[in-house]
Amino acid sequence: MSKKEMIWILIVIAILATFSTSLVLALSYNYNVPKDYELIACPGGIPSFQKGIKEVEPGVYEVNILASKWFFDPYKIVLKNPKVIKFVITSADLTHGFLIVGTNVNAMVLPGYQTVITWHVPQDFSGEFLIICNEYCGTGHSTMYGILVIER
Ligand code: CUA
Repeated sequence: MSKKEMIWILIVIAILATFSTSLVLALSYNYNVPKDYELIACPGGIPSFQKGIKEVEPGVYEVNILASKWFFDPYKIVLKNPKVIKFVITSADLTHGFLIVGTNVNAMVLPGYQTVITWHVPQDFSGEFLIICNEYCGTGHSTMYGILVIER
């Protein structure tokens, strides 16, 4: 085996080791897709959709959000000591995205469907979190955002 072959073999092994290590690190830091994410047909469509925030039981919230060009309604969500948040999101017009920056909450929002995400909020999460639309939805896409406030 020539010296050049040996160098290339070592480069390939180094690349594979880097990828494997970053995958293991990402999983150990909980960077994964939301586990409880489902898309259900919107019963009754937009007129019957009830926007709003309610505490179903202590620490368990249900947040119903209507996404449309180019805002989330409600736009500011303030929750006190949440353990579990169930987001139910639908779109009034186009395909939008729903990403809470710095978390694994990330899903597509489609008109005619409800996106349901059940998020078990890590205990050390508190403060303000930016919510953005991460599916291109037209000229106002870059201004489509919301705020989640977690109070502990
Ligand atoms: Cu809504 Cu991009």
